[in-house]
Amino acid sequence: MKTTFLTIASLVFIAGLLTITTGFKTKAIQNEVSPEGLLTIPDSVNTVLQNKCFDCHNSNSESMKAKMKLKLDKLPTLSKRKLVSKLDAIAESVEEKDMPPEKFLAKYPEHALTDAESKILTDWANGAADVLMK
Ligand code: HEC
Repeated sequence: MKTTFLTIASLVFIAGLLTITTGFKTKAIQNEVSPEGLLTIPDSVNTVLQNKCFDCHNSNSESMKAKMKLKLDKLPTLSKRKLVSKLDAIAESVEEKDMPPEKFLAKYPEHALTDAESKILTDWANGAADVLMK
């Protein structure tokens, strides 16, 4: 029984790692060499996005609403104009404490952003948007 759980747990872990490394990170890295995408996602930001936002906001998310509004893995493929608007929306949703959603946090309070994490996200999103606007 215990072994089964461990096997499942490690499979889930490996699947998660694969998703993160193949889906999220390489796209961000790829983007640095693409002529249009000028977005760099520092590790500190990447960690917060992955831990607190990515589960809902990715191309394969079960939440249609979240997917419609923001697909983090697609950020680097956006045009400059769309990217700026997504970065602004990220900064705003974090500043206003709209994200992660209140209902979700009622169930999983440990997923709330700490003050330090909020600052990491807003500083990055605002800064990156400013650079793109120049
Ligand atoms: C539990 C799932 C979940 C998590 C976790 C989550 N979101 Fe969301 N997010 C949603 C949903 C659902 C919507 C769409 C809300 C709506 O349309 O009313 C949304 C919408 C958004 C929007 C669009 C807001 C707008 O007005 O257009 C942004 C930006 C956003 N989320 C950023 C984030 C960030 C940044 C994080 C991590 C700090 C995060 N979300 C974590 C579910 C989630």
